[in-house]
Amino acid sequence: MKSPEYDLDAVRSQIPILRTHIPMNNCSQAPQCSATRAAADAYLTSWNEAGMDWDAWIGEVDAARAEFAAFVGAQAGDVAIATSVSQATASIASGLDFTGTRRGVVASGGEFPTVGHVWLAQERFGAEVSWVPVRDGMIHLEDYASAIREETLVVSACRGYYQTGFKQDIGAIAELAHEHGALLYVDAYQTLGSETFDAPSSGADFVASGCLKFLMGIPGIAFLWVRPGIAERLEPSITGWFGRENPYAFNAQQLDWGDGARRLDTGTPPVMEAYIARAGMAWMRELGLAAIADWDAHLGLHTVRGALARGLEVLGPIDEPRAPMTAIACTDSHAVEAALRERGIIASARGPAIRLAPHFYNTTDDVNQALDALADVMESAP
Ligand SMILES: Cc1ncc(COP(=O)(O)O)c(C=O)c1O
Repeated sequence: MKSPEYDLDAVRSQIPILRTHIPMNNCSQAPQCSATRAAADAYLTSWNEAGMDWDAWIGEVDAARAEFAAFVGAQAGDVAIATSVSQATASIASGLDFTGTRRGVVASGGEFPTVGHVWLAQERFGAEVSWVPVRDGMIHLEDYASAIREETLVVSACRGYYQTGFKQDIGAIAELAHEHGALLYVDAYQTLGSETFDAPSSGADFVASGCLKFLMGIPGIAFLWVRPGIAERLEPSITGWFGRENPYAFNAQQLDWGDGARRLDTGTPPVMEAYIARAGMAWMRELGLAAIADWDAHLGLHTVRGALARGLEVLGPIDEPRAPMTAIACTDSHAVEAALRERGIIASARGPAIRLAPHFYNTTDDVNQALDALADVMESAP
């Protein structure tokens, strides 16, 4: 029987909610673990005892930046701090020029709505947005090939589709985008932490992610990796004092730009969130990202196969490439989520599907129990 390379019992002992629940909702919110709890406590203690310690707090934000960089195989100087993926995407968009002949945005129909909204909001500034369709829960390369043109300024492709778990081939999309001189923006929120991802060799020009899904964090902080050499081409109108060469120069009448991706930083950064984000990612790196990815892939496959074996209807891909999340069709996904919660299982409703997204701390038995409960719930109230 397959087991992870790390000590699963030891990992599970670090996640208190496992004593009472089976969390299977990493596509929505990861559970609290000892490391993230301790990090939150460390911030609260510092705030309480020192009253104010900005040097240490900003140091912690930079440590989180460096941790994210290491997580995606990059340099800290190529990572900007944001408060959400929406804000990171909007910062990029506000630095692009949509007034020339190259003004097209080709976005996948699998983008999380917020990303689509940011691109649509650029139409006021000249952007022309077109969509690559989702077909059978998947997004096909040939549809990118026909959508991307010489007029395309940026291609927007999520790595994992939040609705079905379908994973896009970022390298292949990058080739198509770059052949036509377009930039590639990737939202990796639904996959980062469940697979190893090396931003510099991925082909992407921008990679954004928040922390509350497979990175074991909380809302309020997001990271944006920018390919070296590209940040300097952007003068984002969504900006703030932390985007300056020296944030402490306090000159309201001078707009200069910080080094590398730092020019995409905006206002006072999310300090407590940075403590927590760093701790979650650091714990995962300690356990081994490849080992986590391997176990997540196993759990994902076990979930999709188990769902089919129980006669449940799976939306989207059955085979690779897919995130560890499985979407199961149901008419009232919120009622199903509530019924599962009564049985101690935390799943995530989204539109026409209930989503089960195990992560590195789950066992195959967790998955079996969740699927048995789901099949039972669906039989009485589909
Ligand atoms: C793929 C993806 N991108 C973005 C978001 C949301 O981004 P934010 O709320 O940080 O703007 C989500 C879900 O919350 C998501 O699943």
